[in-house]
Amino acid sequence: MIDQATALRKKLASMNNDQEQPKTIAVISGKGGVGKSNLSLNFSIALSKFGKKVLLFDMDIGMGNIDILMGITAQHTIVDLFKNNLSIKDLLIKGPKGIDYIAGGNGLPNLFKLDEKKSEYLLDQLQLILNDYDYVFFDMGAGMTEENVKFLMAMDEIFVITTPEPTSITDAYSAMKYICLFDQTIPLYLLVNRAESEPEGVQTLKRLKQAVLQFLVKEVEVLGVLLYDKTVQKAVSHQEPFLLYAPKSGISRHLLDICRNYLEKKNEQNHDKNHQISFISKLQRFFVRGR
Ligand SMILES: Nc1ncnc2c1ncn2[C@@H]1O[C@H](COP(=O)(O)OP(=O)(O)OP(=O)(O)O)[C@@H](O)[C@H]1O
Ligand SMILES: [Mg+2]
Repeated sequence: MIDQATALRKKLASMNNDQEQPKTIAVISGKGGVGKSNLSLNFSIALSKFGKKVLLFDMDIGMGNIDILMGITAQHTIVDLFKNNLSIKDLLIKGPKGIDYIAGGNGLPNLFKLDEKKSEYLLDQLQLILNDYDYVFFDMGAGMTEENVKFLMAMDEIFVITTPEPTSITDAYSAMKYICLFDQTIPLYLLVNRAESEPEGVQTLKRLKQAVLQFLVKEVEVLGVLLYDKTVQKAVSHQEPFLLYAPKSGISRHLLDICRNYLEKKNEQNHDKNHQISFISKLQRFFVRGR
C-alpha cells in the first residue's frame, strides 16, 4: 500500500505544477434545494461573460440536474470515465456562452472511494484538461459526509449557499463548522439566495458571518444577496439558465454584479495562480490519505 501511494505521489510530483492553475470552487449548502445548481450554472455563465474560461462539474451524483437546467441531454457522464474507459475529453459538453460541462450521471460507484487504479486514471484525465480553464466549479449535493468534506479540502474556495430560513442557516453553519474541523484556513464565501428583501438578505449574511467569526473563529467572505424571483422558476421550466432567459431581470443583473464584485476583489488581492498548490496535488493527497 505504501509503495502504491508513493508511486502515485511521485507520478503527480512529476506533473508540471508550475503551470497556471485554474481556481477550483465547490458550491455547497447544508440544506437541499437552496439554489446551488442554479447558482453554479449561472455564476459560471457570468464568469464566462467576463471573459473567463469555465468548466462546470455536476458532482451531485445520482441527483445531478444541471443538464436539465440547460436543456441539454448529456450523452456521457463521469461514470463513463470508469465504466466505458472514455477519455475525459469525450465527456466535455459545450454549454451556453462557452462554458464546458461534465455531467454527474447516475450510479457512479462512490467517487470518493475509488481504488488506486481508478483514482490515478481520474487524476491523469483531469490533468489533461484543467489548465485550459480559469475556473472549475463543482456543484455538490446537499449534506456533508466525511468523504465529501475531504474532497472539499482540495478546493481553492467554497461557496456556501443559504436562504434566510432558520433551518437553512443552521445547516449552512453546521456545514461550515464541519469544514473548519478539517481546515480552518480554506476560504469560504457566503451567498444568501431567495431573500424576500435586500435587508432580510443582508441581515442573514451579517448574522451568519458574525456567528462563524464568534464560534468558529473564522472570517468568511461575503458574495452577496439574491432575492426570490419568479424568473428563476420560469427559466427552469424553460430549461434555460436565467441569465440567458431573462438577462434584464433583477436576479440576472444582481448575479452579474455579484460576479463583478467577486472578480474585482480577486484583482485587489492580486491573486497569483502560479503559487498555489495545484488542485491535482491536493486531490492526490485526498485519494492517498482516504485509502
Ligand atoms: N432566487 C430564486 N428565486 C426563486 N426561486 C429560486 C431561486 N433560486 C432557486 N430557486 C428555485 O429553487 C429550486 C431549487 O433550486 P436548485 O435546484 O438550484 O437548488 P439546489 O440547492 O441545487 O437543490 P439540491 O440540493 O436538490 O441539489 C428550483 O426550483 C429553483 O427554481
Ligand atoms: Mg442541485
